[in-house]
Amino acid sequence: MEMKSENDTFEAKLQESIANPKNMGEMKDADAIGTVGNADCGDMVRMFLKFDEDKGQKVINKASFQSFGCQTAIAVASMATEMLKGKTIEEAKEISADEMTHEIGSLPPMKIHCGQMVEGALKSALETEDTQKTNNDLKDQSTLAQSLIQQKPTSGKIKVIPISDNT
Ligand code: FES
Repeated sequence: MEMKSENDTFEAKLQESIANPKNMGEMKDADAIGTVGNADCGDMVRMFLKFDEDKGQKVINKASFQSFGCQTAIAVASMATEMLKGKTIEEAKEISADEMTHEIGSLPPMKIHCGQMVEGALKSALETEDTQKTNNDLKDQSTLAQSLIQQKPTSGKIKVIPISDNT
């Protein structure tokens, strides 16, 4: 009988989660948007959040994402957007990349930055909410592709890309 390695199991679970990614796509009426890119692999994730009131508290009603290229980032972002529904801003800030990937297990070393990028995009979106940007500010943002082109190399560091200059 053929034994599956841990790596094979991870890949199988990863393929399952990217076969039908949830909440992928731009959210036109988002209340908050966060974007993070990595200059080394050239990938980028943008997270969109929509809020609602629940018992006097602001909670995440909807979350979606855009991503270029990296399937691991797509899988992690898909799982993250599913777990964000109903969370308060404070609860969402506490979610780590490890928690986002609990369904598929720990990411292999080469893929850890993919999960960190999704976590960074979420934190960036939550900071956007903290600074109370208006929907009009968000509509003026450059597209994901334009942001990617505007990125400067950062020698492997994950970089938070400003999404609007507040002018
Ligand atoms: Fe860079 Fe996945 S390979 S984000």
